[in-house]
Amino acid sequence: MKIVHAAAELYPYVKTGGLADAVGALSAALAEHGHEVSVFLPGYRAALEHKDAANAERKLRLKIEMGDQFLSGDVRVFSPRKNLKVYLICREEYFDRRAPYGNGERDYEDNADRFIFFCKGVVETLRLADLQADIVHGHDWQAALLPLLLREAERRHSLTLALKTVFTIHNIAYQGLFPATAFARTNLPDELFNIDGLEYYSQVNFLKGGILFADRLTTVSPRYAKEIQTPEFGCGLDGVALTRADDIVGLLNGVDTSIWNPAVDGVLPARYSPANMAGKQTCRTKLLKRCGFAAGFGGPIFGMICRFTEQKGLDLVIANREFFTGQDCRLIVLGAGDQRIEDELRALATEAPQKISLSARLDETMSHLIEAGCDFFLMPSLFEPCGLNQMYSQVYGTVPVVSRVGGLVDTVIDVGEQPDTGTGIMCEPNAGSLRAAMERALVLFADKPRYAAVQQRCMARDFGWKTAATGYEQLYQESL
Ligand code: ADP
Ligand code: GLC
Repeated sequence: MKIVHAAAELYPYVKTGGLADAVGALSAALAEHGHEVSVFLPGYRAALEHKDAANAERKLRLKIEMGDQFLSGDVRVFSPRKNLKVYLICREEYFDRRAPYGNGERDYEDNADRFIFFCKGVVETLRLADLQADIVHGHDWQAALLPLLLREAERRHSLTLALKTVFTIHNIAYQGLFPATAFARTNLPDELFNIDGLEYYSQVNFLKGGILFADRLTTVSPRYAKEIQTPEFGCGLDGVALTRADDIVGLLNGVDTSIWNPAVDGVLPARYSPANMAGKQTCRTKLLKRCGFAAGFGGPIFGMICRFTEQKGLDLVIANREFFTGQDCRLIVLGAGDQRIEDELRALATEAPQKISLSARLDETMSHLIEAGCDFFLMPSLFEPCGLNQMYSQVYGTVPVVSRVGGLVDTVIDVGEQPDTGTGIMCEPNAGSLRAAMERALVLFADKPRYAAVQQRCMARDFGWKTAATGYEQLYQESL
């Protein structure tokens, strides 16, 4: 099949979270299965500066209609592996910036224009380069206008650009909600600005467009596919999602084992496998030193890696300050994002510097070291569409402590409920329940043979992308 993906993030070029990992691994897996895969990404500075893009071919010049203006751009293409091409939709004014969505404090004011331009750039490239896609697959709100814009371009030019469209919701909490004036920039027919179209309480909602107009919809775990159809998790779009209930399927993300695998992980000071866990001890020692802790500490280490945002349940961790200051354990947090959360975590780390470490930055190497060097991985998310780190942590023999939401339910088995098959500890998304779960973790850690057995079960799980990629292939084929 000729498969076109469009997304705002793609590992290893631009990443703020799991979207980049998921699109990177899925497109690579599909290319490996012999499909002809193209991934469209905005031409961010980071992507253009990446070594893979050094010899990118300048493929096309674009003239994109944005309301009553025409804006120019260009398309650069490179091929990082067999059967895979990356198309960068470039326009310096929009994408030559340090971060993809905002300056840290707030989102860029022209995000509506930036991603309308991106989607239109994808459509225009499909048309001019005659890519003849079987499937055009958009991810999240930044690519959610694609199904509608494709339909509109096909109508205007009387041709077929894509046989079918697929849209994946990685996170329904981010919708691309903009003032009504943004609608004119889409150049879509006025009748689409209503309750059955892009309008959402007098604003424009990009994500709603993807949900309503793609031929098929997916979410990144089966549980989340159900959750988004409820008021509790639908973030105001549950009613819209319900109208497509028959077309939504949950396909669990996987782990890219060429990047996340302790047996071959070149970033770690030592490698290890279920048969020989000695290297995990070396990683632990290095991690403790890196965080300024005594290297010989033998108690449990809890790790956490995430965007600093309410979703990730950092407030539940902060509410448990007495647990971390009182117990003989260590807490190591790596993340970046919301300043309030960072400040509160910083206060906690300053209160107990001998026990709590905070690294407030993006750091790929440190993220691997935390996955490898900790004993437990904390993920008390309030909601979690899929979540990748709880899978990475199992692969690395680091027992996950997670809340019972979304993809966490689909990927972790509670040892209390399933003593013979359990791989982690589950709680409800509240501070008291998290505390009880962490107390269970201490008890488990103290029972060395039992803890080691849980670790072995974690590492024996298969989270490879093969299953997910096959699921997407089937979905594409069915829709065609
Ligand atoms: P989300 O997409 O909601 O952020 P996921 O669990 O799906 O959550 O994916 C998060 C990804 O981002 C993981 O690969 C994780 O290791 C990575 N990540 C998050 N914060 C950081 C950070 N500060 N430094 C390095 N990697 C990070
Ligand atoms: C989103 C979700 C996360 C998911 C990721 C990749 O960022 O928050 O749960 O794992 O997308 O699909």
